[in-house]
Amino acid sequence: MGKVYQRGGPSKGRMPHVIVNCAMTADGKIAGRERRQVRISSPEDVERVRRLRAEVDAVLVGVGTVLADDPHLTVKGASYEKSPLRIVLDSNGRTPEGARVLDGTARTMIATTSRCKRDWPNAEAVRLGEKKVDLPRLMKELDVRGVRTLLVEGGGEVIYSFFADDLVDEYRVFVGSKVLGGRKAPTPADGVGFDEPTCRKLHLVGSERLGDGILLSYEVTR
Ligand SMILES: NC(=O)c1ccc[n+]([C@@H]2O[C@H](COP(=O)([O-])OP(=O)(O)OC[C@H]3O[C@@H](n4cnc5c(N)ncnc54)[C@H](OP(=O)(O)O)[C@@H]3O)[C@@H](O)[C@H]2O)c1
Repeated sequence: MGKVYQRGGPSKGRMPHVIVNCAMTADGKIAGRERRQVRISSPEDVERVRRLRAEVDAVLVGVGTVLADDPHLTVKGASYEKSPLRIVLDSNGRTPEGARVLDGTARTMIATTSRCKRDWPNAEAVRLGEKKVDLPRLMKELDVRGVRTLLVEGGGEVIYSFFADDLVDEYRVFVGSKVLGGRKAPTPADGVGFDEPTCRKLHLVGSERLGDGILLSYEVTR
């Protein structure tokens, strides 16, 4: 199991400590207008994310990211047992059988809903919620399974949902030196959005130059 963190305890009950991590361009996009993966991280940031994944118990993305990027979500060189649990939020069972998260090199959970009857090879389907995956229930399920640290890697819909359900403890964003533009290009937090009175407040706890970009680290204010 990875490092045990202090925050995320009393305010949320005994739940995983949630770190949201993503990379955005200097104009605030996490992918281009075609919603295809774009290299935004510097090599130094790629190495930082590799180390971060190796520290946590589970890594989570939405099915939108699986369909767009087909990530492995593994840690290079880590054994099956030592790799973090891979989790995909997929209410309607859209994860393709050939997806890299189903390659059997690490444990995988497809978090889906009661209306999805599908099962996948090399993955455990966990049905939580009716229309969308119920995140508070997922947190409880992960807590029971001993997951103490959860890394949420995207995309914009999923990150927004974690903020909307008040489940985020830390937000880390690498700002890369590119401009992508595109009014429909995804951003770190999409969803329906907050109004000013309900927007989530952050406290900047660190900034670090990593190659030709900067890592901003925040704690979520509660
Ligand atoms: N730069 C970066 O750091 C980074 C990282 C990751 C991804 N990306 C980019 O982000 C884009 C994908 O983002 P996205 O916003 O389209 O997709 P996403 O956030 O990866 O996945 C969203 C989907 O997850 C499913 N879902 C299930 N339960 C949910 C819940 N409780 N809350 C929210 N979603 C839930 C929904 O589909 P169902 O209703 O079908 O379940 C939803 O449409 C791609 O362009 C990718 O390249 C960038």
